[in-house]
Amino acid sequence: MRIPGLTRRANNMKEIKTQVAIIGAGPSGLLLGQLLHKQGIDNVVLERARPDYVLGRIRAGVLEPGFVSLMREAGVAERMDTEGEVHDGVEIVVNGVRDRLDLKALTGGDGVVVYGQTELTKDLMQARSDSGQTSYYEVSNARPHNMLSAQPYVTFEKDGEEYSLTCDYVAGCDGFHGVSRKSIPAERIKTYERFYPGGWLGLLADTPPVNSELVYIKHDRGFALCSLRSQTRSRYYIQVGENDTVDAWSDGRFWEELGRRLPADLAANLKTGPAIEKSIAPMRSFVVEPMQYGNLFLLGDAAHIVPPTGAKGLNTAGSDVYTLSTILGKVYADGRIDLIEKYYAVRFSWWMSNVLHRFPDTPAFDQKMYDSDLQYYLQSEAGRKIIAQQYVGLPFEIIE
Ligand code: APR
Ligand code: PHB
Repeated sequence: MRIPGLTRRANNMKEIKTQVAIIGAGPSGLLLGQLLHKQGIDNVVLERARPDYVLGRIRAGVLEPGFVSLMREAGVAERMDTEGEVHDGVEIVVNGVRDRLDLKALTGGDGVVVYGQTELTKDLMQARSDSGQTSYYEVSNARPHNMLSAQPYVTFEKDGEEYSLTCDYVAGCDGFHGVSRKSIPAERIKTYERFYPGGWLGLLADTPPVNSELVYIKHDRGFALCSLRSQTRSRYYIQVGENDTVDAWSDGRFWEELGRRLPADLAANLKTGPAIEKSIAPMRSFVVEPMQYGNLFLLGDAAHIVPPTGAKGLNTAGSDVYTLSTILGKVYADGRIDLIEKYYAVRFSWWMSNVLHRFPDTPAFDQKMYDSDLQYYLQSEAGRKIIAQQYVGLPFEIIE
C-alpha cells in the first residue's frame, strides 16, 4: 500500500544511518554536531561547499557570554579563550560625540568576546575531524523526506553516487538559501521579512584598529562601524546604497569615506592598508514561524536573519543550537520533546538597525522618532542598561 506523503528511495542508493542528520556545516551545524556528540548522540553533517570555501566567508565576531559558555561546553573553547579578546565596553558616536557604554558596569558583570567566526568555524571543524564524526562536504541535491514520520531520511549526491541517510531527526542548519526551510510545505509556515535598502560594505585589513573597542557611528553620510579581530587586524564597515557593488569601492575610496564618518580624533588615528577581504552584507530581517516541521528543525540563518547591527546572527544561532541540543539530549535520555523557544533578539536587532541607520525610505517622522529614541536611551541610566544588557545578550532559557 502506498502511504500518502511518504516517498520511496531508489534501489541503487547507498544507505547510511544516524540519529541526527545535520544539513549545513556553518557554525550552527558544526556546533550542534559537537554538542550532540558530547551527549553520545550520533550525527552526520552534509555540506554543499568545500571546507576552505566555508572558512573563506568573513562574518561578525562578537560572542555573547551565552555563546562563549556553549563553546566551552562543547569542548572547543581552547583557542577562543586564549586568542579571543574580552571587551567590557563599546562606543556609540552620535553627532560626532563619542559615548562609551561600560557593558560590564551596566550589566553587572558581563562583557563580550571578540573572536572571528572564521576562527571559531576552524576550531569546530578540527574538533569534528579529531572526534572522527562523519561529514560529507561537496554534496549536492540534499533533500529531507518524510519529516512527519518517525523515520525521516535525507537523500544527497556525492562524487556521482546517490545516498540515503536514514535518521530520527533532521537539523536544517543550511542558512538562508538552504533547502531545509524550502522543504516545508508553504502553507505550514509563515515568513516575515523586511529588506533594508542598503547594505554594509566590510573591509578586513592587517592594520591596528582605530580604537581598542568597537565603535558604532551614526552619521549623516551613513552608518559606520569600527570593529576588529585583534589589536593588529581591523574590520570596518560603512553603510552603502542598495545598488552599490564591491567593485565600485577601491580600497582608497573606502578608507576616504570611512575617514569622513569618524569623529576627528578617531580619524587622526586611522591606519589604512590593503584589504584582505571586502564584501557587502545585505541588511535583512527575516523570521520563519514555526521553526519545526515534524522531525525537521530549523536553526540559525535557515530560520532567522537579523541585520548585522547588533552582532546577533551568530548568537541567536547559538541559542537555537543550545535549545535543540538540550531537547534532543532529553529526548534520547528521557524520551521527552519540547518546542523550540522564541527569539528575543530579533526585535532588538530591528530596533538597533533603525536607530543607527538612515535609509532613504524611512519617513521623516519615523526617522525623528528613531533619533529621539536613541537619545532617550543613551541619556538615561535605565536606557543605557537596556542597550548594554541586550548587547551582551540574555541568558539562554532553561529547558525543563
Ligand atoms: N545542502 C547542504 N549544505 C547547504 C545547502 C544545501 N542545500 N545550502 C546551504 N548549505 C550550507 C552552506 O554552504 C553553509 O556552509 O549551509 C551552511 C550554512 O551556514 P551559515 O550560512 O553560516 O549559517 P549558520 O550556520 O546558521 O550560521 C549562523 O553565522 O554565517 C553566520 O550570518 C550567519 O551569523 C550567522 C551565523
Ligand atoms: C564584525 O566584527 O564583523 C562585527 C562586529 C559587530 C557587529 C557586526 C559585525 O555588530
